Amino acid sequence: MVSGSDMYRQQILDHYKNPRNYGELDDATFEHVGENPMCGDTIKLFVKLAEDGDTVEYVSFIGDGCAISQASASLLSEELQGMSLEAIREMDRDDIVEMLGVEVSPMRVKCAVLAEKVAQDGAAIYVGDKELDETTTEE
Ligand code: FES
Repeated sequence: MVSGSDMYRQQILDHYKNPRNYGELDDATFEHVGENPMCGDTIKLFVKLAEDGDTVEYVSFIGDGCAISQASASLLSEELQGMSLEAIREMDRDDIVEMLGVEVSPMRVKCAVLAEKVAQDGAAIYVGDKELDETTTEE
């Protein structure tokens, strides 16, 4: 029998091996990059907003790194579609853990939240609330 957490582990592996929305986006409204300095893994997100200038129409990403960081970016690229910039900025660690469906060890939390932080900083920079070249998982 496949337990619930096994199912989620399989989902993470599947997103790692077959990332959704992978690639650069030529007509992105904004893009932003982030790195986990502990390991050097990176995620770059490309966000295209709808005509209202607030609703996410499409998200793609490129990246390099561990299964959790890349699967998290892949899952997030699906999750963010249809969200407002404000809603993205209000997401927290629990939303990512819920999305992944498994408890993440403290060591791996930074892997899990890298893409989320990139999306949030990207949104904040886009609306003019932040100035930042690159996001890192270090506070
Ligand atoms: Fe680098 Fe996971 S080991 S982000």
